[in-house]
Amino acid sequence: MITYRPDLRLFSIRTPGMSYGFRVEESGCLCGCHFGAPLLREEDMASLHRPEDNVHLSLSTARTSRRKYREEYPAGGGFYYGEPALRIVFPDGVRDVELRYVSHRLSEDGLSLTVTMRDPLEPVEVDLCYKTYPGLDLISRRSIIRNTGDRPFVIESALSAVWYGEDHAEYRLSYMTSGWAREYELHRVPLEGQRVILESRSCLPNSNYYPYFALDRGDATERSGEVWYGTLHWSGNFKIAVDRHDYGAVSVAGGINDYDFSWKLEGHESFDTPWFTAGYSARGFGAASRTLHDLERGVLMPAEFRAKPIPMLYNSWCAFEFDVHEEQVEPLAALAEEMGVELFVIDDGWFGSRDSDRAGLGDWFPSPKKFPHGIDPVIEAVHRHNMLFGIWVEPEMVNEDSELYRSHPDWVFSFPGRERETMRHQLMLNLGRDDVRDFVIDMLDRLLGEHKIDYLKWDMNRSISQPGDRTETVGGERGFWVRYVRNLHAIFSHLREHFPHLLIENCAAGGMRNDISMTQYCVRTNRSDNQDPRDELFLQEGFTQVMCPALAGGAGHLGRQPYGINGRSAPLPFRGLIGCMGSLGMSIDLRSMTPEQRAAYKQYIDIYKEIRMTVQKGDLYRLLSAREGDVAAFLYVAKDGADAVLFLFGLNLDFRRQFPRLRLDGLQEEALYEVEGRGIMRGDLLMRVGIRYDLRGDYDSELVRIRRISE
Ligand code: DGJ
Repeated sequence: MITYRPDLRLFSIRTPGMSYGFRVEESGCLCGCHFGAPLLREEDMASLHRPEDNVHLSLSTARTSRRKYREEYPAGGGFYYGEPALRIVFPDGVRDVELRYVSHRLSEDGLSLTVTMRDPLEPVEVDLCYKTYPGLDLISRRSIIRNTGDRPFVIESALSAVWYGEDHAEYRLSYMTSGWAREYELHRVPLEGQRVILESRSCLPNSNYYPYFALDRGDATERSGEVWYGTLHWSGNFKIAVDRHDYGAVSVAGGINDYDFSWKLEGHESFDTPWFTAGYSARGFGAASRTLHDLERGVLMPAEFRAKPIPMLYNSWCAFEFDVHEEQVEPLAALAEEMGVELFVIDDGWFGSRDSDRAGLGDWFPSPKKFPHGIDPVIEAVHRHNMLFGIWVEPEMVNEDSELYRSHPDWVFSFPGRERETMRHQLMLNLGRDDVRDFVIDMLDRLLGEHKIDYLKWDMNRSISQPGDRTETVGGERGFWVRYVRNLHAIFSHLREHFPHLLIENCAAGGMRNDISMTQYCVRTNRSDNQDPRDELFLQEGFTQVMCPALAGGAGHLGRQPYGINGRSAPLPFRGLIGCMGSLGMSIDLRSMTPEQRAAYKQYIDIYKEIRMTVQKGDLYRLLSAREGDVAAFLYVAKDGADAVLFLFGLNLDFRRQFPRLRLDGLQEEALYEVEGRGIMRGDLLMRVGIRYDLRGDYDSELVRIRRISE
């Protein structure tokens, strides 16, 4: 609920377990009072902000000038040296912005608020937007910048929001670094006054860091302690800056990266920034993640898919790479059906020039050599075998040797006269151009409209180099970074609107574009190209800090061994159970397997189907971490509490290793549960004392099913 108390000049946002407040000062500045534990009285919240804090103390202690103290949206200028939320260059050369309260609008349902601010001298207005979600301890914020004059000005930075911790408190920062096949690497470091920048500059959000932060007092665990956390809804270059200010506050400012960015805002136009969602958990990192998972599944994900399980998928990539062709499909589909596969995906390599053997990215026609009768016969074969049919595309890319490139050489990023670096022989289309966006929409409309495709895997395999946008003037604006993401989202919105039943997988060389905004469009994501069985334990822990485990797929958990990424092999149960913790995928030449081998693989497909509703729709508890020891444990509890599944994985365990009991979580204290292999136990025993388990040697694993038998 969001309210405004005119007597206190206080905006307050209350969710079940969190309060957030900010005040309008006499001067019209907006200053943050509180973000954290729920407070019962608004007077108390207002008292946390003292207007006298907003003056600068000189050495003689004379109060000389105003300073920016906990400003909700600190624009550049004045005595402010932290990360400015807004930087503008006006035509008269002024680079100062001072935002003052003008008005506000509260939605009738009390869930959203817009506060309008204005600079007293320059023609700029800023809307600060706040959004809450029933039952979730989260706030999403963003800003909208408006040019109210006739002449253009240049935005050099426009962040979404700034969040504040408590003044003078010690904090620890959690963040994730990222890179190909090592996405979501979690780090926790004490904040000792250093400035920390988490950012991406490659056009993909997860190429160096993941757009996420968490602050705690250094003592939070998965199950306990206060955590302030947030994530950006932006699928491109982002920046999150953590500052400690001279007056003692810690702030986290975030939004679109200002690196190589500028935006000419014409008179009477506006610029929207993306949502930045943040929350407060009094119950550790685990509860923080579960809240974000609920936002994804309950609010962001298209309604049509919220209650449905994610189909068990077969994908051609790890088995065949580019070597896919028509004759494989029927025999593979027949075997896949026997094993219980529900979705059959043809990955990279199926397309080509209309009338030659060449496979050119950009020419989205079935390769006449590999699929001489087109793709309809293979789609029919897959459907005949009672599976959904999926196909891979990489619409943002083009090969030089393609019809598309020959027709539109100016559509790729490049600087005139300079080398254009390729990666995987690919050039990158400038999706920031509207003609490129329209080409992609037309191409997909044709592909999806003319063929009975149920599932689309959207891939993106290279990051940007030589980001020259031929449409922008020399020395002029550099807005294509933003237009690129907006057009990308526009295409996905188009797909959702025109193909509402289409299942979409979000993939970018594995998980390089797994920001939360993509959950609006996609039911599954390629978490990583790394399906090394050991590395996946770390990936699962990092990924699920923000992303719902149900989304976590890959081209194939059930596949060849050793696995290519780092040449490791692990027993089938270990790999199969890891796949069952998200959305299971298989990629192996089924024809080369014996019936016994296929039967062994099938067991995990059967298990997946039995437990997936609990895994995909339930609550995740990360009980033990492979970062901290040689056993990892993940527990999933159904929302109605009727059942739970516990996954245990052991690595490099010494002989006769004994483990302490493992305390479970999320169960009902009074309820009786039947715990597979351990008998009947009450919830309090399971959670306060725990269960025994026994793992041995390398890559041991166990799945424990837990069923409530009385409440
Ligand atoms: C990268 C993806 O992550 C893989 O799953 C696969 O689709 C390849 N690209 C295809 O080029």
